Amino acid sequence: MHAQIAVLPGDGIGGEVTAEAQKALMAVAELYGHRFSFPTALVGGAAIDQTGTALPDESMDLCRQSAAVLFGAIGGPKWDDPRAPVRPEQGLLALRKGLGLYANLRPVRLYDCLVDASTLKPEVVRGVDLIVVRELTGGLYFGQPSKRFDGPHGREAVDTMSYTEEEVARVVQAACDLARHRRRKVTSVDKQNVLSTSRLWREVAAEVGARNPDITMEHVLVDNCAMQLVREPSQFDVLVTENTFGDILTDEASVLAGSMGMLPSASLGTGKMGLYEPIHGSAPSLAGKDLANPIAAILSAAMLLRYSLDLFPEAESIERAVRQVLDDGYRTEDIRAADTKVVGTRKMGDLIASRITRS
Ligand SMILES: NC(=O)c1ccc[n+]([C@@H]2O[C@H](COP(=O)([O-])OP(=O)(O)OC[C@H]3O[C@@H](n4cnc5c(N)ncnc54)[C@H](O)[C@@H]3O)[C@@H](O)[C@H]2O)c1
Repeated sequence: MHAQIAVLPGDGIGGEVTAEAQKALMAVAELYGHRFSFPTALVGGAAIDQTGTALPDESMDLCRQSAAVLFGAIGGPKWDDPRAPVRPEQGLLALRKGLGLYANLRPVRLYDCLVDASTLKPEVVRGVDLIVVRELTGGLYFGQPSKRFDGPHGREAVDTMSYTEEEVARVVQAACDLARHRRRKVTSVDKQNVLSTSRLWREVAAEVGARNPDITMEHVLVDNCAMQLVREPSQFDVLVTENTFGDILTDEASVLAGSMGMLPSASLGTGKMGLYEPIHGSAPSLAGKDLANPIAAILSAAMLLRYSLDLFPEAESIERAVRQVLDDGYRTEDIRAADTKVVGTRKMGDLIASRITRS
């Protein structure tokens, strides 16, 4: 197969981790006889510095012409001025919206050998295998009005959370489709006791559930869900929720997997095109130090092979290589434990690429 994969490294550790993901994809290409090309483009702070905008037209065009996008991370102290008219996140939000990527899949899996990397008790986290489906193109991140202004009582700001039934239905359906290949349980998360959008969410989710009778659908309030995630995470199979709740719950869930550096994601729409990125940000304090864990980005590359290119054995070959390297005792700093060999970003990428084999 020949596929063009757009690489948008972004800022901070983004370039370091996407380089290692690319290494894994090149190893797969060589082993299985595929040809992948990796044109790169600017996004985020790097794009603001060079072009004045967080997502230049050329970057958007490149993504539209590609089979998939491998994304690093954006942001950093240099662009943190809250009053700046152009901000790095605008690039990522415009990309998600422009490409129609409404379902963000965030698997949370704890490798047995990393049980000690979690700050939670081994008996709580052992065997965790859940996936959060975060709605990605609606809610507070896109609702209008969203602005700051001077009101009669001083400074004011407003954000708007809004959802249409179609936006809710399609992402809940995506969650049901995923659950069908797993343990057939979907937990829909909302705040229906307070928010109108959540009452609509619950109503529509229940309707979608009724159209998928083979799936067990349950509804949980987001505050209870946050608590249950650290109390008894193994009760969950697929969680589906709106944009902001999903963002917060998956950072919390990263503790189950040992580190932010372990969690990949796939952002999907109606077609095969997808955007693949680690859930973490640009980790400015680690940037340029060869300290970042590249596994989240590498596992995102595996998701790219599976969801955008339908290359299932190839995706599994990357996931197997990651497991082997961890089983062999190699760790980056963030998941360091007693009696393990701590390596840098590049070395971890090399080790994983070198272990990619056919099963
Ligand atoms: N999708 C994105 O690009 C995205 C997501 C979240 C935050 N951000 C941006 O990133 C910047 C930093 O934000 P933050 O510090 O809140 O979040 P962050 O995810 O960058 O970092 C949170 C913590 O996790 C650690 N961490 C993150 N990735 C890691 C990795 N691969 N290996 C080891 N440790 C890792 C960091 O050192 C830090 O302690 C901000 O500008 C923020 O806006 C971007």
